[in-house]
Amino acid sequence: MKILAIESSCDETACAIVEDGRRVLANVVASQIKLHAQYGGVIPELAAREHLVSVDDVVEHALNEAKLALRDIDAFAATIGPGLIGSLLVGTQAAKTLSILNEKPFHGVNHLQGHIASNYLESELKPPFLCLLVSGGHTQLLDVQDYQDIRLLGETLDDAIGEAYDKIARLLGLDYPGGPNLDKLAQTGNPNAYDFPEAQCQKPYDFSFSGLKTAVMKCIEKSDHTEESKADIAASFQATAVSTLVKKTLQAAHEFKHTQIAVAGGVAANSALRKTFETQCAAASIGFYRPQMKFCTDNAAMIASAAYYTPVTHRIDCDVFSRA
Ligand code: KG4
Ligand code: ZN
Repeated sequence: MKILAIESSCDETACAIVEDGRRVLANVVASQIKLHAQYGGVIPELAAREHLVSVDDVVEHALNEAKLALRDIDAFAATIGPGLIGSLLVGTQAAKTLSILNEKPFHGVNHLQGHIASNYLESELKPPFLCLLVSGGHTQLLDVQDYQDIRLLGETLDDAIGEAYDKIARLLGLDYPGGPNLDKLAQTGNPNAYDFPEAQCQKPYDFSFSGLKTAVMKCIEKSDHTEESKADIAASFQATAVSTLVKKTLQAAHEFKHTQIAVAGGVAANSALRKTFETQCAAASIGFYRPQMKFCTDNAAMIASAAYYTPVTHRIDCDVFSRA
């Protein structure tokens, strides 16, 4: 079963072809980073226009990369939400058109289910597992009982962790996209230089990052703005954020008796998060899974995989999972 998927929910126009939910035959991503970098963030209207320009090219590229023709494709898919509406419309309408013309099914995919499925690409991971989904828009702890039975254990009550990374990166004078640049800077600083607060939430698996963000912002204002203090602030912020994420995930793994943990979403590319999980999961004899770097940030291969495992999605918003 070969599925061609398009992802255009934010600032990446992507097309991929995946066989049986796991084997990636093509993975093409046209990034809009250069376009949005000059504004320091994504401008929705510009993103949608750029998707219109790139969408035909990425589909053609993907077919060439996989050495396939449209008649070889068994189903078409696209991200239908959540995301920027103008951007989503471009990818969705393109994939629907291809499905009608080629008389093959169309699957609308929820972007969050896509991020979870990034762990199935070129991997052996099967449910049940615990998934920490950390992206620019979401921070969720999910109990993945089966491909279609996913329960929300907790989520952020305010900022998503990727959003906190991007805001702090901007205040430190780093270029967009902030997350990866802050990650790089943090590797040169002292993670114990500053003692930032870890939020306490009423429910054990909820998260809150606005207090941490404010504490870091105040610290930046008071600092001497040297490269050294910037690196120390970045490293201390990263250490606090990673500690919270890993601690809660491991606590949930013990409570719900999971022997496998997976991370997903753009922040799953973070070096400290990956390293800390690797060490702590090994110590607790828990299997740790993380997508290849190119499948962490937005891509269409994860959408094709989710279309295979979750062919029917009714929810286009963030509330796709039921609360545990
Ligand atoms: O999953 P994604 O590409 O888009 C959303 O669905 O939001 O995630 C993008 C987010 C951005 O906030 C970006 O700064 C963050 O992931 N990110 C990182 C790293 N790479 C991407 N954050 C921390 N460290 C990284 N290495
Ligand atoms: Zn995403």
